[in-house]
Amino acid sequence: LNNGLAQTPQMGWNSWNFFACNIDETVIKETADALISTGLADLGYVYVNIDDCWCPTRNFEGQLVPDPIAFPSGIKALADYIHGKGLKLGIYSDAGAFTCQVRPGSLYHESDDAKLFASWGVDYLKYDNCYNLGIPPKERYPPMREALNVSGRTIFYSICEWGVDDPALWAGKLGNSWRTTDDINDSWASMTAIADLNDKWAAYAGPGGWNDPDMLEVGNGGMTYQEYRSHFSIWALMKAPLLIGCDVRNMTAETFEIVSNEEVIAVNQDPLGVQGRKVNVSGPDGCYQVWAGPLSGDRWAVVLWNRCSKANTITATWEALGLKSGVSVSVRDLWQHKEVAVDAVSSFGAQVDAHDCRMYMFTPHTTSLRNIA
Ligand code: DGJ
Repeated sequence: LNNGLAQTPQMGWNSWNFFACNIDETVIKETADALISTGLADLGYVYVNIDDCWCPTRNFEGQLVPDPIAFPSGIKALADYIHGKGLKLGIYSDAGAFTCQVRPGSLYHESDDAKLFASWGVDYLKYDNCYNLGIPPKERYPPMREALNVSGRTIFYSICEWGVDDPALWAGKLGNSWRTTDDINDSWASMTAIADLNDKWAAYAGPGGWNDPDMLEVGNGGMTYQEYRSHFSIWALMKAPLLIGCDVRNMTAETFEIVSNEEVIAVNQDPLGVQGRKVNVSGPDGCYQVWAGPLSGDRWAVVLWNRCSKANTITATWEALGLKSGVSVSVRDLWQHKEVAVDAVSSFGAQVDAHDCRMYMFTPHTTSLRNIA
């Protein structure tokens, strides 16, 4: 969508994956404080997004009313607090009669609700798909787009219709991102399946509008360090939104190391904005995988991903990557933070542990990397 936002994928935090309905203004404020004190905000994590359950009811005028116990100061005060820290506030509603947790939805209230959000100073709307009365998303998502357009504020529009009716094909005109799949959960099986589903839509992502394979589970406890590192690397490569989904007030050093990796974040935020893809598979069930994509400056990002249960060498060939056969590149390891080859020609391989990945930046020495212009 051409509204000036999302020139690179959105980065921030969302309450749902860790807190679900257990949210209040203290959690949101303390999260904003933690994004600042940890330095994550400086790395680009600026959206602080409230998910479902903030609003139990409408008032007699039909306006959404924040939960008076959880949000006694109201959303405007919260937005002021967040803005005072240089961050942005996101809110949540649903293109249906109710949200998924059976709070009021915005279907047929689009104009009033968009105006209210704008008056509070909201910067981002995640718009869910529950209780949709069987009306197709293509009909329910445009009215909120139009309402946001005339709300008086530029608001990021995160279309959350779970991949129903292939949104990559139609949501680019409406929103800044669109979900390509059902909800993620904090497991290797869910994360890998979602990566594959999102890969299918790579051609439709770009500055202004991104495929959304759902929020990060890094730090929530259901995967190993290696699995979370793979999750973060592949989300970054796929130009997915990087929305942290853990309790950032209580991150372990390992969780922080993963989500604060500046070199991996730089791949995600690269101005070229091309979604990396799965380019080669080998081994049992195709579990030795190479994922890659172009970056600005004629560089290339490459992930060697071992989805098997044993360590193995995985090799990226220039042929699989679509690079010119004779071109030589220097190879930088984005997790070890060092150059690992000065002059790789025609292929590059490395030993990768089970469920782990290695992530690299290729920089060409002389000629252009690509086979095709
Ligand atoms: C479904 C969405 O896909 C989730 O991300 C979350 O917002 C829940 N609904 C909240 O009920």
